[in-house]
Amino acid sequence: MAALPPGFLSESLGRIQPSQTIAVTQKARELKAAGRDVIGLGAGEPDFDTPDNVKEAAIAAIRRGETKYTNVEGIPELRKAIAAKFKRENGLDYATSQIFVGAGGKAVIYNALLATLNPGDEVVCVAPYWVSYPDIVALAGATPVVVEAKFENGFRLTPEQLDAAITPKTKWVILNQPSNPTGACYTADQLKALADVLVRHPHVWVLSDDIYEHLVYGDFKFATIAAVEPKLYERTMTMNGVSKAYAMTGWRIGFCGCPEPLVKAMAKLQSQSVSHATSISQWASVEALNGTQHFIPERKKIFEERRDLVVSMLNQATGIECPKPDGAFYVYPSIRGLIGKTAPSGKVIKTDEDFASELLEFEGVAVVHGAAFGLSPFFRVSYATSNQALEAACTRIQRFAAALK
Ligand SMILES: Cc1ncc(COP(=O)(O)O)c(C=O)c1O
Repeated sequence: MAALPPGFLSESLGRIQPSQTIAVTQKARELKAAGRDVIGLGAGEPDFDTPDNVKEAAIAAIRRGETKYTNVEGIPELRKAIAAKFKRENGLDYATSQIFVGAGGKAVIYNALLATLNPGDEVVCVAPYWVSYPDIVALAGATPVVVEAKFENGFRLTPEQLDAAITPKTKWVILNQPSNPTGACYTADQLKALADVLVRHPHVWVLSDDIYEHLVYGDFKFATIAAVEPKLYERTMTMNGVSKAYAMTGWRIGFCGCPEPLVKAMAKLQSQSVSHATSISQWASVEALNGTQHFIPERKKIFEERRDLVVSMLNQATGIECPKPDGAFYVYPSIRGLIGKTAPSGKVIKTDEDFASELLEFEGVAVVHGAAFGLSPFFRVSYATSNQALEAACTRIQRFAAALK
C-alpha cells in the first residue's frame, strides 16, 4: 500500500483515535474467522433482533416509495413521534421544531459538539466515559476536561467534583446514564444534586445522553436532568435513540430535544454532511416509538438475569471485584488485585490492556480494557450475548485469573 504524501492528512484527524471498542469487536471477528474459538464480550449492541413490526414498517415505507430525500432535521412524522415519546416517558415538553434526528445517537452528539465548540472551549466528560465523547470534542478543536468518577462512589460523579471541574471556559457537561461502560445510574435525587451545581453556572450547557434509558433493573427508576430540574431545560440537550432499546443499531437513528436555535445550527451542519438520516430508517423509527412496546420489559428481564449471572461469576474470580450496576448491558470490574501478577506467557500484567490482550490470547475472551474509557485498572464486559456464551466466558475469565501468579 503506497503511503500518503506528508501533511496530506488533516491536523484534526491527528487529534483523534479510532474507536477502541470497534477495534476489539473487529479483532474478535478476525480471530473467529481464522478458526479460533473466541467469545466476544466487546460489542455495545443488543444480541436481539429488531422487532418484526418495525421491520414491516420499513418494508411498507419502501413499497410506498419513501425512498427520496427528506427534511434535514427529520420527517415531521418522526419528529412528532419523538416529541410524544419525550412527553410520555420523560415528562418533557418539546415542540416538533425542537426535535432533531441524526444518523445514530453518535451523529447527534457529533452535530451538537461540532456546531457549538471553538478552540479553547472545555467540555466536562466523566470517566469512565463512552469512548467517543473526548474524541469528538478534540476533533472540534476544544478540550475535554476529564473527571474521574470513583469505583468507591459507584462510578458516579459527585456534585463537588462537578463544581470543581467547571471553569469560565466550560461550554458543555456530558452526562450519560445508564452509563456505558459502567452501567451506573443516578436517582432523581442524585441528579438534582448535580443540577443544583449547574444552576449556579448559567453559561454551561448539559448534554444528557439517555440512550440506555429503557435498560434499568430491579426497582430503579430512570430520570433525566431537564425533567428533574426545569431551570436547566433551556440549556439542556436531551439525547436518545432507537439503537439500544429497539435493537436497531444498524438502522442509524438517533435524536434529541433541545432549544430550537440549536436544532437549526445542527441542521445547518448536517445539511453539508449526510443531509439527513435514511428515509426508510426514519419510517421504521416512527413505528418503533408509536407501536407496541411489549418487548422492552421482556428483553429487560433477560438482560437483568444476565447481569446477575455475570456479576456473580466475576466476583468468584480471584483478584476481580465486580460492582452490580442498575442499568445498561455492561459491567466494569476492577482488576486491582491482578496488577503485577505474571501470565502463563511469562508476561507481567502491568496494565488493564495487558490483561485484556493476554485474556484474548490464552482464553479467547474479548473484553475492552479500562484505559479505553479513561479509568484503569478495569475492563468492560458487555453482557448483550447468550447466557451460554456468558457462562463459558466467565468460566474462562475465572480460569485465567486463577492462572496468574
Ligand atoms: C453512551 C452511548 N451514547 C451514544 C451511543 C451511540 O449510539 P448510536 O449507535 O445510535 O450511534 C452509544 C453507542 O454505543 C453509547 O454507548
